[in-house]
Amino acid sequence: MSAQGSAGTAVDLRTDLGRGLVLRNPIVAASGCCGYGTELTPFYSPEVLGAIVGKTITRAPREGNPSPRMAETPAGMLNSIGLQNPGIERYLERLLPDMQALGEVPVVANVAGEDAADFAALTERVGEVPGVAAVELNISCPNVSHGLDFARVPERTTEVVRACRERTDKPLWAKLSPNVADLRPIAEAAQAGGADAITVSNTLLGMAVDWRARRPKLARGFGGLSGPAIRPVVLLHARRCVEAVDIPVLGCGGVRTAEDALEYLCVGCKAVQVGTAGFQDPLRLPTIVERLGRLLAELGCSRLADYVGSYRAP
Ligand code: SIN
Repeated sequence: MSAQGSAGTAVDLRTDLGRGLVLRNPIVAASGCCGYGTELTPFYSPEVLGAIVGKTITRAPREGNPSPRMAETPAGMLNSIGLQNPGIERYLERLLPDMQALGEVPVVANVAGEDAADFAALTERVGEVPGVAAVELNISCPNVSHGLDFARVPERTTEVVRACRERTDKPLWAKLSPNVADLRPIAEAAQAGGADAITVSNTLLGMAVDWRARRPKLARGFGGLSGPAIRPVVLLHARRCVEAVDIPVLGCGGVRTAEDALEYLCVGCKAVQVGTAGFQDPLRLPTIVERLGRLLAELGCSRLADYVGSYRAP
């Protein structure tokens, strides 16, 4: 796909995420923020996006954590949803066909298992569906008891990614956690396990307190912070991961505008996932896609690929 710049210049926004998956543009709807894609259709055609990642699917249906499980913060949002989802059977039967009916937009299935074998079984099931363009492994949910087990110890990251790699030929993305001092060893571990790309990142652990009630604002006590507040933190993780691995990095954290997306692309991310911003404004993602083309044209770039990684380190 090419986008028309302000000077009428066509910008080629395609981006290659490996294993034959080329997106028409780098703007991807992040997991958990657009349900299974059908929530977008009252507002715009999802075909304008690079790809859509569905809400995490687990083997059994999950109700999620008790409420309240969302709290606004000055520059972000805390959630402790707890992987609420209808389970793999209903997903395959009802939701995935609905996603595939969205049109010419790559559909990415996001899965979370209890252990490596469970991750692998889920990956195999969703990977067998012809319309699934890629599988994203959610090894980084902070809102379930063992959610970070595979995200903070490199050997465990490799273990789960490798188990999944053995069960699918589809593009495999590992969604990493920012809740480590240095994400590079984890990124390297995901690559060693056979990941085709990494998503950097999931949410940052945080809490908010109702000081009058002396109670946490989230029933579980803490949750995952998303939104603009975390962008500088995740951007640094993303930059370091780009330097550490050879596989594509998808930046994910606090993107509200095309300018924000360009920060991630500049430091070398090949795509950018947008989540929380879509809750504020459902048209945010197509707006970002459109403006991205215009900004790149203003920079004199005819291809996104020429801009990605053009960051000048100090
Ligand atoms: C959730 O369902 O708790 C959010 C998803 C995640 O953080 O991975």
